[in-house]
Amino acid sequence: DSTVAVIVVAAGSGTRLGHPEPKALVPLGEDTILGVALDAVLGMRDAPFVVVVAPADRVDEVRERSAPRAAAASVDLVVVAGGLTRQESVARGIAELPREIEVVLVHDAARPLAPSAVFDEVAAAVESRGHGIVPGLPVVDTVKRVDGEGHVLETVDRSELAAMQTPQGFPREVLESAYAAAGADFTDDAALVAAAGVPVDVVPGDARAFKVTVPSDLHRAEQLLAERTA
Ligand code: C5P
Repeated sequence: DSTVAVIVVAAGSGTRLGHPEPKALVPLGEDTILGVALDAVLGMRDAPFVVVVAPADRVDEVRERSAPRAAAASVDLVVVAGGLTRQESVARGIAELPREIEVVLVHDAARPLAPSAVFDEVAAAVESRGHGIVPGLPVVDTVKRVDGEGHVLETVDRSELAAMQTPQGFPREVLESAYAAAGADFTDDAALVAAAGVPVDVVPGDARAFKVTVPSDLHRAEQLLAERTA
């Protein structure tokens, strides 16, 4: 049995995309955003256990759509209902992990074009180092700290910054205990794990793992997907 699990969080509404469907179910190519993201997960070198966290009112539909692909890839996949925040959705995914799982990757369905190789690399780095592992990219824009009135306070040294992506990977017990202890809402799992005092290392991310947030992102994803299948 696999000792690596991937939790794909797909329960967000994605209001900034301006589409009536929840973001993960928005069409992308011949598929959906979630479908493309799942294909990347199913393309991993070693088949993982997969948990899809779906919008609460779309669980049955997501299960019906995901099951045939998982079966074709000989992967065990479960679908559960998400919560009101990303953190709550991840927690619901964690609750589904089988006993034998040792490494957990958490991935945003909203990053459908993250390559399978990034999943493999993150899982391997968690296994070899025993730390949290996050893919990150150098920040190319100049970043400034700004106050509530829009006044620039200072320029932040961007050489010390990295933009975080997913999949983020953790030893299972680290992720579980960090979630059990977590208070306020965190926007990523690495912040939550780091707050619990566990080291988190950055590995090179991939430009294709960008998050689909606004309509122009969807357009870019459509183009990349078309190039990939051409
Ligand atoms: O909203 P945002 O794009 O930052 O969400 C990141 C990921 O977290 C998305 O894949 C989204 O579906 C997921 N999410 C979730 N449950 C929520 C909010 C977000 O699974 N309540």
